[in-house]
Amino acid sequence: MTNQLIIFDTTLRDGEQSPGAAMTREKKIRIARQLEKLGVDVIEAGFAAASPGDFAAVRAVAETVKDATVCSLARASENDVRRAGEAIQPARSGRIHTFIATSPIHMQHKLRMSEDQVVERAVAAVKWALEYTDDVEFSAEDAVRSEMDFLVRVFDAVIQAGARTLNVPDTVGYSIPAAWGERIKQLIERVPNSDQVIWSTHCHNDLGLAVANSLSAVMNGARQVECTINGLGERAGNASLEEIVMAIKTRRDVFNLETRIDTTQIVPTSKLVSSITGYPVQPNKAIVGANAFAHESGIHQDGVLKHRETYEIMRAEDVGWNANKLTLGKLSGRNALRQRFTVLNIEFASEEAFNAAFQRFKELADRKHEIFDEDLQALVSDEAIAEVSEHYRLLALRAHSETGILPVARVRISIGNEQHEAEMQGGGPVDATFKAIEHIVHSGTELQLYSVNNITSGTDAQGEVTVRLAKGGRIVNGQGADTDIVVASAQAYLDALNKLHDNLQRAHPQL
Ligand code: KIV
Ligand code: ZN
Repeated sequence: MTNQLIIFDTTLRDGEQSPGAAMTREKKIRIARQLEKLGVDVIEAGFAAASPGDFAAVRAVAETVKDATVCSLARASENDVRRAGEAIQPARSGRIHTFIATSPIHMQHKLRMSEDQVVERAVAAVKWALEYTDDVEFSAEDAVRSEMDFLVRVFDAVIQAGARTLNVPDTVGYSIPAAWGERIKQLIERVPNSDQVIWSTHCHNDLGLAVANSLSAVMNGARQVECTINGLGERAGNASLEEIVMAIKTRRDVFNLETRIDTTQIVPTSKLVSSITGYPVQPNKAIVGANAFAHESGIHQDGVLKHRETYEIMRAEDVGWNANKLTLGKLSGRNALRQRFTVLNIEFASEEAFNAAFQRFKELADRKHEIFDEDLQALVSDEAIAEVSEHYRLLALRAHSETGILPVARVRISIGNEQHEAEMQGGGPVDATFKAIEHIVHSGTELQLYSVNNITSGTDAQGEVTVRLAKGGRIVNGQGADTDIVVASAQAYLDALNKLHDNLQRAHPQL
């Protein structure tokens, strides 16, 4: 058994299954580039058969990434597998990840297939996949609730068919660490030729045990962990990459394993994913939360000053907290900005797009003294490389709030080529702004989430706003960033409306 742990990142696939986190091609490329810099071994770029847009995104990631394997998910159906095979074709190293459910509850109620049919289909899927790549992964969906004897049978069959990686998912986040480790151990003991393949684990976090379960699997022989940045993912999310990697590194005495991860890229990657998906990181989140290395109590502060290790098991700079460097200011020119964007892996489709970003940078620098990398990320999130149509666009906004008087907002927006204006009162300036927008658009949407986070510190920091809107079964996250949070809120609201307007339809891989 090797002492290398393969880090399989599924932020762009399972992470994308979080409500409203669907990503455009360009956004996936930006995250994929950063994941490559971070040093993950495998990037699961999406589910190619979900829609033409998803196919194009997986293919674009496959064309871009050179230093990681690019993978597409595929249900065990011929069409899915062939779409995945075509999408990863440009990759220097490409993988197809095919899966089928193996638990009685899924086989009876979802698939309506017998055990024999499931085995037959799993084998067929692996064989179709092998026509495109010899790097084929097979997952037994809902392995946690599957019968052990049947799991052994399925895994035996797919090894014989040629699968190279066998993934054991806790799809519903039901397991506990000791049981999960035991399950992996038994599978490795009982499946014939188990030493010829890599055993992998994929844990969901419904009971808050995804990382613990994954680590238990590793202690029992798994050599690939499927995880996501910030633990993003379906429902309560997946095992968080940063926690897995730092546990392996910090407790080398226990695991004695290596990963290829450059841990100093963890915080920048976390910030990028958070800003692109609109999922903020809770302050007390391990490793990447704003308070993860903050010592509040006097006793702790005193201890850390005297001898750092008294209260710190990791160094903030080792996970990239010092990457938040002052970068640019009001006097910085086009070349300095261009260089900084290159360092941040941000490319512009045209000189025009760069000029628009430069213009916005200048406007921001007028209002904000110091410009950090995170500000630049936010700047391009909604401006230079936006792919979402700008059917709704903010032209002007005036919000007034005064103690004792109901806040009022006046907004002017364009819808296509027409301009509209409305003024409304509300419980606060943001509420009044949203009411004014709704007065114009009558969107019929439900506001599911409104959140504001400061991108950097200080009262002149940009506020990054996420607005989640739902309509007719579709959920989207809109984002906006500005030093004025009312403006950022209006931008976020209109961004969400634009995403709904684009009306991209996609299938869910697990339905
Ligand atoms: O949770 C799950 O079972 C999955 C599979 C498709 C691997 O995401
Ligand atoms: Zn999953």
